[in-house]
Amino acid sequence: MHIRVLGSGAGGGFPQWNCNCENCKGLRTHSIESSARTQSSITVSSNEENWILFNASPDIRAQIESFPPLQPARKIRDTGIASIILCDGQIDHTTGLLILREHDKPWDIYCTKSVYEDMTTGYPIFNILGHFRGVNWHEVATEQEPFTIPKADDLVFTAVPLKSEAPPYSPHRHNTVPGDNVGYRVEDKRTNKNLFYAPGLGVIEDHVLEYMSNADVILVDGTVWTNDEMSRHGINDKLASEMGHLDQSSKGGIMETLSALSKPRKILIHINNTNPILREDSAERQILNDHGIEVAFDGMDIIL
Ligand code: MLT
Ligand code: MN
Ligand code: ZN
Repeated sequence: MHIRVLGSGAGGGFPQWNCNCENCKGLRTHSIESSARTQSSITVSSNEENWILFNASPDIRAQIESFPPLQPARKIRDTGIASIILCDGQIDHTTGLLILREHDKPWDIYCTKSVYEDMTTGYPIFNILGHFRGVNWHEVATEQEPFTIPKADDLVFTAVPLKSEAPPYSPHRHNTVPGDNVGYRVEDKRTNKNLFYAPGLGVIEDHVLEYMSNADVILVDGTVWTNDEMSRHGINDKLASEMGHLDQSSKGGIMETLSALSKPRKILIHINNTNPILREDSAERQILNDHGIEVAFDGMDIIL
């Protein structure tokens, strides 16, 4: 299986259009060692021809231009994207669906019932796409039942319910239900290797730890280094935990959990522009390195 990181940034990307934080300013003025990141998405394929897109970021247009296998190659209107899987109904994970409206047939979209509800009520993108070629919705169950997708030869997908937050416009905003946020295990039957992907993760529950322990590669929520990162920068008073993201550096944070795992390659993804790990020369990045944890970048390829 080929995994391509299309966008390794969190909502807003890096630099964010209105952000003057040290990182965003530093990137613009070339005074820090780092690189720009588009918003959260990966794509996977087992045959290098048909690609499953995980999340459709507002940056999907540029992401397609950055990765030729997704580009039209066979007929006048064409794409390498066979189907789309959503982890949640957040703006950074779904707005790209509007950009993809010119598709010549209904999009096959795999998501849970509660994400479907977000996409047809609070943020009714599926309804809007109904005025174009429409959406062929495939319900993803939250009971961790493995499923397959046409054209994704040899890949087996399992949705893993996660504790995080539903988007502000979600009907479940204040009473999250299983399925508001899911991670995915993707196994290649030929190699028996598997990826665990969870770009938004608020709590590492036991079942999540088990998926992580048994994975060959983990791509997991790297939003913030500290829970109070936004208020530290004077941006707002929201804690990362209130937004459904577990920080890296605290006791019980992502770094501690990942460090204890021996099998998988461990990579942080969905990194917010305020996070000091974006600076390749930062002390925080060095601490991650010392713990054997990598930081995803746009264009990262992983072969499993
Ligand atoms: C999140 O991951 O919490 C959201 O994507 C943040 C946002 O873009 O509003
Ligand atoms: Mn996000
Ligand atoms: Zn910033």
